Amino acid sequence: MSDLNSQVMAALSTVIEPELHRDIVSLNMVRDLTIAGDTAKFTLVLTTPACPLKDVFLSRCTEAVVGKVPGIHKIDIKWDAQVPTDRKIHGRLDVPMRSIVAISSGKGGVGKSTVATNLAVALAEAGARVGLIDADILNPNIPMMMGLGSGHPRVVNNKMLPIEAYGVKVMSTGFLIDPTKPMIMRGPMLHSAIRQFFTDVEWGNLDYMIVDLPPGTGDAPLSLAQSFPLTGAIIVTQPQEVAVSDALRSAAMFDQLNVPVLGIVENMAGDFFGTGGGERLAGERKVPFLGRIPLDAEVRKGGDFGRPVAVVAPETPAGQAFGTMAQTVAARISVVMLQTADVIPLNVIG
Ligand SMILES: Nc1ncnc2c1ncn2[C@@H]1O[C@H](COP(=O)(O)OP(=O)(O)O)[C@@H](O)[C@H]1O
Ligand SMILES: [Mg+2]
Repeated sequence: MSDLNSQVMAALSTVIEPELHRDIVSLNMVRDLTIAGDTAKFTLVLTTPACPLKDVFLSRCTEAVVGKVPGIHKIDIKWDAQVPTDRKIHGRLDVPMRSIVAISSGKGGVGKSTVATNLAVALAEAGARVGLIDADILNPNIPMMMGLGSGHPRVVNNKMLPIEAYGVKVMSTGFLIDPTKPMIMRGPMLHSAIRQFFTDVEWGNLDYMIVDLPPGTGDAPLSLAQSFPLTGAIIVTQPQEVAVSDALRSAAMFDQLNVPVLGIVENMAGDFFGTGGGERLAGERKVPFLGRIPLDAEVRKGGDFGRPVAVVAPETPAGQAFGTMAQTVAARISVVMLQTADVIPLNVIG
């Protein structure tokens, strides 16, 4: 490495990744540095394409290098992203998924599927490879919310192909059953149906697999949460007290299972249900607050008509709230995974 290159690297090593609290050089985020005239060019590999911190990195890298390293007056960053791989997934399942995130709630009707859907489409919109499993077998609402009501997965080489919408690959028992009949499945059947969604579906490489779990802390969510390796769980709650106390039980379930609670999303905030219950719960449990989504008829319509507001109306307050939540969630997933890894790993699974 030339002298100038090492001076630039040394300068960049003073830039701290604000969430991981380590410098960007030792985290292996800086790649392919070249000097052309008075410009230092390099690639900055973020831990998620949905990174909320690009502007922060740009200004801090500029501050660290320009005027500090003699002769360098500009920096030119090429952005790239590599979602870290959760190693425990590959110990248990032979699937090319970097992370598996459960969406959970203390009870039904709080907006768990709405949050799962909008999170998935927002991450895909940011450029991530995203899968969405509807594991709420008794109430498979994801197909409707994704505008895939009448989808039927094709089978190729003994594997089902997920159905894609808004850049997200979706699988749901809703695709496999007659929606006019009640779904009566017992524990073990439910278990194996969902397990097959991981193993017998041709997902391709995924950065994030989002799983919409059944609500509550009964047998179904409990056994599902144990039946595949979860990188973490997101708890969705409404703001009011009764919902918060249910959410608390949900968080306790994941603690018992040793699944990290990534944080809490407060949904349907506003005059009707109040505001602040989810944030208070996050504070009490000492887990991150991942965002507050307003109660807004457009969110409900988006669900009913398969047009998730995170992508069809990103400029509205609810759309923006989902977008910010997705960035916060993505950053939090990186933090949880990198707590056990030393550096941003090189691509393991493409
Ligand atoms: N922020 C919100 N504002 C308005 N309606 C919402 C909001 N979040 C969810 N809904 C609506 O509330 C109902 C329940 O949400 P859903 O996501 O199906 O809950 P769950 O999966 O927890 O049972 C749905 O009709 C949905 O469209
Ligand atoms: Mg649901």
